[in-house]
Amino acid sequence: MTDSMTKKWVASVLKQHRHLQSVVAELEEFLADPRPDTGQRGSHTWAVALSRRLLSLHDELFQHFRFEEETRVMEEILLDHPEAAGKLKDVLGAHPEMLRELRQIVSAVLAYSEGVNPEDPQIRRRISTLLEAFHSHEQEENHLFQRLEYRDTGASE
Ligand SMILES: [Fe+2]
Repeated sequence: MTDSMTKKWVASVLKQHRHLQSVVAELEEFLADPRPDTGQRGSHTWAVALSRRLLSLHDELFQHFRFEEETRVMEEILLDHPEAAGKLKDVLGAHPEMLRELRQIVSAVLAYSEGVNPEDPQIRRRISTLLEAFHSHEQEENHLFQRLEYRDTGASE
């Protein structure tokens, strides 16, 4: 992989991370408010609004993970940085599990979208746990990819 290719790829990944961070922040803001009580304005649309946000996060993550997993780029990186193989496998290997958990959360949220079921407090916990895991995952990738880029461009670590 040429230096400029690595640089471009890392720059795109970092840009996507920044965008995803703002999507997650909006979701957290939405979740900071309690679900309106039954009969209150917004109570029966709350679960639908939440599932919409979660689904759109799922779509964005799906695209983002595919971008990061792109075989050609990975092969090139591994040619230049065989020492990073284990770490790369670990971070990329975490993607399917995060998507699976997100899909399970969406179906759990949809289960009370009728507005008749009380909100399950466990759902919020599951969402926060997932968002925290996602956040540290992205941090880990930032460090890893930036390190690879620095090595390629000869900058100091
Ligand atoms: Fe990522």
